[in-house]
Amino acid sequence: MGLNCAIDGPSGAGKSTIAKELARRLGFVYVDTGALYRSIGYYVVSKGAKTSSAEEVVPLLGDISIELKYVDGVQRVILNGEDVSDKIRTPEISMAASNVSAIPEVRDFLLNLQRDIAGKNDIIMDGRDIGTVILPSAEVKVFLTASAEERARRRFEELKDKGQNVVYEDVLNDINQRDYNDSHRETAPLKKADDAVELDTTSMTVDEVVGSIEKLIIEAQREESVPFKKIPAFRRWLFAIPRFIVRVGFSIVFNLKYEGTENLPDHGSVILAGNHRTWFDPVLIAIRVKYISAYMAKAELFDHFPLNVIIRAVHGFPTRRNSADVSALTRAEEAIRKGYNLTIFPEGTRSKDGKIGRAKSGVAFIASKCGVPVYPVGISFKSKLHFRSKITVRFGKPISPEELHINSMSKTDLRAAGELIMSNIAGLVDSDA
Ligand code: DC
Repeated sequence: MGLNCAIDGPSGAGKSTIAKELARRLGFVYVDTGALYRSIGYYVVSKGAKTSSAEEVVPLLGDISIELKYVDGVQRVILNGEDVSDKIRTPEISMAASNVSAIPEVRDFLLNLQRDIAGKNDIIMDGRDIGTVILPSAEVKVFLTASAEERARRRFEELKDKGQNVVYEDVLNDINQRDYNDSHRETAPLKKADDAVELDTTSMTVDEVVGSIEKLIIEAQREESVPFKKIPAFRRWLFAIPRFIVRVGFSIVFNLKYEGTENLPDHGSVILAGNHRTWFDPVLIAIRVKYISAYMAKAELFDHFPLNVIIRAVHGFPTRRNSADVSALTRAEEAIRKGYNLTIFPEGTRSKDGKIGRAKSGVAFIASKCGVPVYPVGISFKSKLHFRSKITVRFGKPISPEELHINSMSKTDLRAAGELIMSNIAGLVDSDA
């Protein structure tokens, strides 16, 4: 069973834009149920029947077979073997869909199809009655609204961008008409489920809306997810041996100074976030922290033997840079839940001159998603490293998830949290290093 997120609301509230982006970020399947009603509307129109007449529509249902396919994560609707995904996006078919959707037999006809898809996957499903009828036990329910004028404006822009010749007033009239139809029909009218969160998107950006819902989904996942575990003691002991050997080796080659060790965590499942200076930064941190850490390492490193074997042995896993790598974020979360720390370098790339760069959003995202603290680490040394160079590794006080102040997973929130983490790290780095 996957996690179900139901997004309902009137036409043009931004459901599909929001749902698509959410599905992309979270690796969920997006199910656009409006497309199912549109396909039926399209079929009825193509047969020359009246879309508002149950007598004419119901007998046609027996001839209809609808399938949803996913091509590169994008939903395609297959009506009797034909891909009609693009043909169902006209104002005429919008109205036809609204008409047929008021017929109880049409809604029954589509009920099981929608439930079947939801049963198998983590899904974001948008429509009008998802939270109330189709998936009443969905873990997350959202009711998206916006003023009719704003919704008409958005739909108008969308149709214009697609090259369709439309007049704003007509789009607004359509929206008002469809609102009336959708909320006054007898079967499954458009209404907010009692337990749905209502979001008025009139003056919100797409990123703000997506971030708010993402946060709700993540909280629901956290409730469902397995509790944190501890790494078995024997594994920690086993790891202590190579760690000791490496520490002796590094202490011979460099003049290592560790400061702020009283701030070190006395348990696992935390994030250690440092500035990135050298390829062996993870080692500098690992040899001083008692608990075993997992690492994100750039995917290219896994192309080379024996480096790949070594990195995996020390719990490294690949991440693709410059993209929201959903699988790397999932691996990071799994590691933290199993009791490992996560050592991460939020800037992503090494700083050659010691200047502190900007954090990528991953670190704040994982901290907020897992609800774990971030321990800042500052690594400092002067100019080029050579034998017996002095390297200072300074551990700072942990930053709690509450201090990161992430209200939604919007880019703005994640960026602000990333900046807070980097400024804590910067405070631990020698200014002349
Ligand atoms: O979301 P949309 O504009 O593509 O939907 C087209 C029509 O289908 C809409 O006017 C109402 C109807 N519909 C519905 O009644 N129930 C759903 N779950 C989805 C759409």
